[in-house]
Amino acid sequence: MTTTVAKNAMRKGDKTVIVEGTKMVPIFIMGKRYFVPETLTIQKAMEYAGYQFVRSCGCRGGICGACATVYRLEGDYKLYSGLACQTVVQPNMYLAQIPFYPANKVAYNIEDLPYDVTAIQTVYPETFRCVQCNTCTKVCPMDLEVMDYMAAAIRGDIQAVAEMSQSCIMCGLCASRCPAETNQYNLAELCRRLYGRYGQKKSEQVARRVEEIKSGKYDAMIAELNALSIDEFKNRYEEREWEPVISEGWQPKETKYL
Ligand code: SF4
Ligand code: SF4
Ligand code: FES
Repeated sequence: MTTTVAKNAMRKGDKTVIVEGTKMVPIFIMGKRYFVPETLTIQKAMEYAGYQFVRSCGCRGGICGACATVYRLEGDYKLYSGLACQTVVQPNMYLAQIPFYPANKVAYNIEDLPYDVTAIQTVYPETFRCVQCNTCTKVCPMDLEVMDYMAAAIRGDIQAVAEMSQSCIMCGLCASRCPAETNQYNLAELCRRLYGRYGQKKSEQVARRVEEIKSGKYDAMIAELNALSIDEFKNRYEEREWEPVISEGWQPKETKYL
């Protein structure tokens, strides 16, 4: 059953524009049926239905990983998943959100870990329970080759894990479906940290700047900024060096800050 959107439900601004006549479709949010415009993402459809996000919403742009969602479609036994801010509703989808997934997350001191497979064995030994089923790859909304980076971790190829998982948004969907109860994203974060600490070439510019800071080169400037009032500080901010004008009529001086 579908209906059309009422005129008084039209919305503009940063929301999806809903024009008069947009078809309404039924969806089931945590078991309760709502009619929502068919053009909306799951996130906007939930808001349309009256939900207010306290959890499960962050960037609204497919970056933060806060809006992991699982759903089924009518007449289909499969369990699908996606990001609520990126996935458009479908008629008769049954959905629920995963605001947080309690995957294992271990505290460690990177300085105490070696740059080899024993670091992985020590911090996340469950990594080696992976049965290479590929479920994590299928479920990943970022289209990462998750199973492949797990295989690289088992081989001890920390650099490969770091590079293959670079776009991970820590949504937790992979861990939620893993039959071996591994936690792919925390393991990948460990590998990125290890690679950053031990594998990557050090930045000469960063090292030089750290030395400058340590030598006190900026102490007087920082002290001067700390002594400013809030208004003086705002003025200083507005008078700072601006990026080049990027479009005709763009006037940095007219920009107002709240
Ligand atoms: S879902 Fe789990 S067991 Fe399957 S490939 Fe991924 S990490 Fe391995
Ligand atoms: S690797 Fe896992 S946590 Fe990272 S984006 Fe993919 S599904 Fe989400
Ligand atoms: S709200 Fe950030 S990824 Fe969806």
